Amino acid sequence: MLDLSPQDLRAHATEALTRARARSTALTDAVDDEDLVRQHSKLMSPLVWDLAHIGSQEELWLVRDVGGREPLRPDLDEIYDAFKHARADRPGLPLLGPADARAYVREVRDKSFDVLEKAPLSDGNALQRNAFAFGMITQHEQQHDETMLATHQLRRGEPVLHAPAPPARRTGALPSEVVVPGGAFVMGTTAEPWALDNERPAHETHVAAFAIETTPVTNGAYLEFLDGGGYTDPRWWSEEGWAYRAEHNIVAPRFWRREGDQWWRVRFGVHEPVPHDEPVVHVSFHEAAAYAAWAGKRLPTEPEWEKAARFDPATGRSRRFPWGDDEPTAEHANLGQRHLRPAPVGAYPAGASALGVHQLIGDVWEWTSSDFHGYPGFRAFPYREYSEVFFGPEYKVLRGGSFGTDAAAIRGTFRNWDYPIRRQIFAGFRCARDLTAAERG
Ligand SMILES: [Fe+2]
Repeated sequence: MLDLSPQDLRAHATEALTRARARSTALTDAVDDEDLVRQHSKLMSPLVWDLAHIGSQEELWLVRDVGGREPLRPDLDEIYDAFKHARADRPGLPLLGPADARAYVREVRDKSFDVLEKAPLSDGNALQRNAFAFGMITQHEQQHDETMLATHQLRRGEPVLHAPAPPARRTGALPSEVVVPGGAFVMGTTAEPWALDNERPAHETHVAAFAIETTPVTNGAYLEFLDGGGYTDPRWWSEEGWAYRAEHNIVAPRFWRREGDQWWRVRFGVHEPVPHDEPVVHVSFHEAAAYAAWAGKRLPTEPEWEKAARFDPATGRSRRFPWGDDEPTAEHANLGQRHLRPAPVGAYPAGASALGVHQLIGDVWEWTSSDFHGYPGFRAFPYREYSEVFFGPEYKVLRGGSFGTDAAAIRGTFRNWDYPIRRQIFAGFRCARDLTAAERG
């Protein structure tokens, strides 16, 4: 969506907002009212909070800020301010009930479309230019949709979400890793119209040559670590990771359980044997780092991940996505909750990067070893609470999006961050390593 006319921007924003709303509606219509107001886990908000919060943010940015319209429900600002109330406390707030929440988001959306019709988009302030605020609100809604999908995964009971199985493997055996050449590459973006503040600006970064795995670590590979005593040997774990593992008695990825010789998992209410060829998901940063140490490797840094994903050695350019500059299609990546699970490794050859690294986008978020920080020249926009207040050593960066991430909310430059103990998110990882002296030549 580079360089669109105002008319094309309007069509693009309308399509993206409509797709997000269809997903929010499907995720909230899938359960009854009792389920909507219930807190399924202390880690999550009630689904009905997410829904009205989506509307509240949209009202603030599109209706009031861009549109300059009168507030619809100023009384809701405080209740749905994510910074004022922790997730665990949200059920105790005077929240809108399901019917009122649905009516509220509908009313806000009608006004947003009216604002979109009239806003200049080509000039005006930075929120209007390129329809940035509409892109930001679309991404915000899609991010909450992924959060709601994680709430569905934590919910107990019969399956209520349904989707076809992902494609099977479409490649022969892949090399286990590829070498990424050393040298400078352009990380981050200045040109991407809907990129968020933390992805900006584009800047040259130097990365030493390294090797990275061509696919995310599979359940089958992870089982070797698990069955080999990986969870009982502190040698593979950081001090912090081992203490966390011991305190919570963690013995396997979240949602796994053993029956006899077989590991089973629960996936959106379905009990099934753990499939060996899919990327492992629902592991914390600490588990990912322990596996990597056990394998004699390490997690990639964030610049390494981005170089493996975007760098084209033929041109020296950084691509928007691993496969090139085109928007993701169903052939490129497992995105948008099209399938309710990661796809087997080798399922997306058309999505491989120039260097031959597969499934960087979609399937599972990938933990990196990097803390979340601003790039050189970072400028908070449109507000410090979007990213800047999270900068620091508390959060680890995740890259690439998951099967639950919509195409509107992922790019080669997109950065996610979370606590290293988090396991309810759709996160896995791949390993990297330094080159040996012989490999460096
Ligand atoms: Fe939010």
